[in-house]
Amino acid sequence: MPLVTTKEMFEKAYNGGYAIGAFNVNNMEIIQGITEAAQQLNAPLILQVSKGARAYANHTYLMKLVEAAVQETGLPIALHLDHGDTFELCKSCIDGGFTSVMIDASSKSFEDNISLTRQVVDYAHDHGVVVEAELGTLAGIEDEVNISSEDSSYTRPEDVQEFVERTQCDSLAIAIGTSHGAFKFKPGTNPKLRLDILEEVEKRLPGFPIVLHGSSSVPQEFVDTINAHGGNMSGAIGVPEDQLREAARRAVCKINIDSDLRLAMTASVRKCLDEHPDQFDPRKYLGPARDAIRDMVMHKIVDVLGCDGKA
Ligand code: G3H
Ligand code: 13P
Ligand code: ZN
Repeated sequence: MPLVTTKEMFEKAYNGGYAIGAFNVNNMEIIQGITEAAQQLNAPLILQVSKGARAYANHTYLMKLVEAAVQETGLPIALHLDHGDTFELCKSCIDGGFTSVMIDASSKSFEDNISLTRQVVDYAHDHGVVVEAELGTLAGIEDEVNISSEDSSYTRPEDVQEFVERTQCDSLAIAIGTSHGAFKFKPGTNPKLRLDILEEVEKRLPGFPIVLHGSSSVPQEFVDTINAHGGNMSGAIGVPEDQLREAARRAVCKINIDSDLRLAMTASVRKCLDEHPDQFDPRKYLGPARDAIRDMVMHKIVDVLGCDGKA
């Protein structure tokens, strides 16, 4: 099976009350860990590449690694550009074989976001590629302490219909309280997503796939392991998994996870090198890191996304 778009995946996910995991990839071990988990659980998969990942690993290397994953697993896998910020970057990924791109013009004005998104959509659709757009900006920890600016970060449900109609995008990332990275909420506060906003969006766009960025849950075991082996991730807090599960039952069809991959890998490598200071064979520490990614992704597929057995 060749790489697929997200169209059919999202239709099934919407109707089935589950979501597809979109995992960021940067190298072979990450791709292998994720795809091994999906294969064991027969789960559909989105592998996504950021501008930074593409600069780090090179488009062709990533493309070939993902093609190898498709060949080895036989799973429906979509290859997606994460946070494309220009038409040229999106075009380059479309021309280079990606099946899905995100144009993130969420920091621009409503009108500028619409016109850039529409430009990407026109090009992508002509080439059989689907487009994710974003409306609203993700909350950061600064927004949590500044209540007056808090609402301005969230997606305004009254804007979504016009945005989707005018851009013709295929899925929409919304801001309901998630944020990127490992420090998502202020220690001592109650991490809570605005599922009421999701509900309002869903009412206005029935059947339309919604995307959640910034959805790592920052498992405490990884934070503790990193801290116990010379690192410092104190104060790291993620999104509670039960709230992500609830979002996946509703209109959310794609859940983005990157930080949890980084934490799983870093915890494993730190522990291994700390316990075996004479180790200098990369296979001996990257192998366990790959297994740690696999185990974490298996947990996400079963307990958060609910997409096991849906490939
Ligand atoms: O949302 C961003 C992703 O976590 C990718 O991060 O740009 O450092 O590759 P990156
Ligand atoms: P996390 O930092 O929560 O993993 O979010 C990743 C993401 O949204 C990638 O686009
Ligand atoms: Zn993101």
